[in-house]
Amino acid sequence: MDEQLIKTVNKLQDAFVTVGVHNPVDLPQIVVIGSQSSGKSSVLENIVGRDFLPRGTGIVTRRPLVLQLINRPAKSAPKENGDVSEKKGEENPDEWGEFLHLPGKKFFNFDEIRQEIVNDTDRKTGKNLGISPVPINLRVFSPNVLTLTLVDLPGLTKVPVGDQPKDIERQIREMIMTYITKPNAIILAVTAANTDLANSDGLKLARDVDPEGTRTIGVLTKVDLMDQGTDVIDILAGRVIPLRLGYVPVVNRGQKDIDSRRTIHSALDGERNFFESHAAYQNKAQYCGTPFLARKLNLILMHHIKISLPEIKAKISAALVKYQSELEQLGDPLTDAAGQAANTTLSIITEFCNDFRGSLEGQSTDLST
Ligand code: GDP
Ligand code: NA
Ligand code: MG
Repeated sequence: MDEQLIKTVNKLQDAFVTVGVHNPVDLPQIVVIGSQSSGKSSVLENIVGRDFLPRGTGIVTRRPLVLQLINRPAKSAPKENGDVSEKKGEENPDEWGEFLHLPGKKFFNFDEIRQEIVNDTDRKTGKNLGISPVPINLRVFSPNVLTLTLVDLPGLTKVPVGDQPKDIERQIREMIMTYITKPNAIILAVTAANTDLANSDGLKLARDVDPEGTRTIGVLTKVDLMDQGTDVIDILAGRVIPLRLGYVPVVNRGQKDIDSRRTIHSALDGERNFFESHAAYQNKAQYCGTPFLARKLNLILMHHIKISLPEIKAKISAALVKYQSELEQLGDPLTDAAGQAANTTLSIITEFCNDFRGSLEGQSTDLST
C-alpha cells in the first residue's frame, strides 16, 4: 500500500477522533472471489505483504476470513532497509494479529496466525473438507498497513467432496454474495490465466452484482503456467471480456515455493523478473504484477475518499456550528477548545484535498484503462 496514502488517511482519522467523529472515511472492503485454487489467498497475501494465510491445492479456505488491517505507529525504533523482519521471518514487536474468538491474545508470529486460522476452520467445519459461512475475524496491527478490511473467501466449486453438502455450489455462492453485494465492496475477480476466461466463475458473479464494472478489477494469476506461445495480451487489451477497470496479470508463489517457504520478498523479485524478461510483457511490465495491482487499489481508494469528502466536510461544519453556539450560550473555555479542534480538522481536510487533487486528476484516466 502507498505510504503517502496511509499517512494522509491516518492524519485525517486522527484529526476526526479529536472532534469525536470516529471512522469518518468508511473505506471499501476488498473482497477476492473466483474458482477454487485460482490463487485468491495468494493474491490477498501479496497485497498485505505478510505470510499468514493458508494456501494450497484443493479447498483450503473453507470459511470467510474477514481481515481488518489497523494502522498503528511503530513504538520501537524503525529498522533500516524497510521490513527486514518479513525477509528473515522474524517477529516484529510493532506487528501482531488478534482473533475475535481469542480476545486479548496477541500473535506476533505470523506462522502461528496461519495455524490458528487452520485450527479454527477445523473447529467449525470438521476436518473433512466441510465449509461454513461463519467468518473468522482477524485484526492485524502494523505501522505498514492502511486501516482497511480485506475478505478472503472459499472458492467456487461444483462437485462435493468429503463432508461437503450436496449443494456446495449454492452454499458457497450465497456466502460470496453476502460480501460482494455491498456497494462498498471492491471485487478482485481472480481467474487463473491457464483457464478459459469465458468460464470464469469470479467474473460471472462480479457481473451479476456490478454490471457497470465500476468496482471490479480482473486479476489474472498463474501467468507463469500458461502454455508456451500463449499470453494474456488480448485479455489486457479488452478484446476478450472487456472490464472497465481492466485486468492485472500476476505471478504468485507456486506450490513448490510454498513448500520451500519462499518469502514474499523473493517472490515479488521473481514476479518482476518474469514480466520484464517475457517477450510479450516486457514493453508493458509496469502494468503487470502485484505492485501495479496495489497501485490500482490505492487509486480506487483515493477516488472513494475524494467522493466522501463533501459529506465529511458537512459533518465537521455542523460540529463547528454546534460548538460555536454552545460557546456563545455558555462561554465555557472547554467548548472553545472543541471549536478550535473542529477548525483544525477543517484545515487538515482542505490540505488533504489540495494534496490529492493533483494526483487524482492526473491519474483519473488510469481508472478506465
Ligand atoms: P485459492 O484456493 O484461490 O485461495 O488459491 P491459493 O492461493 O490457495 O493457491 C492455490 C494453488 O495455486 C497453490 O498451490 C498456489 O501455490 C498456486 N498458485 C497460486 N497462484 C499462482 C501463480 O501465479 N503461479 C503459480 N505457479 N502457482 C500459483
Ligand atoms: Na486452494
Ligand atoms: Mg484460498
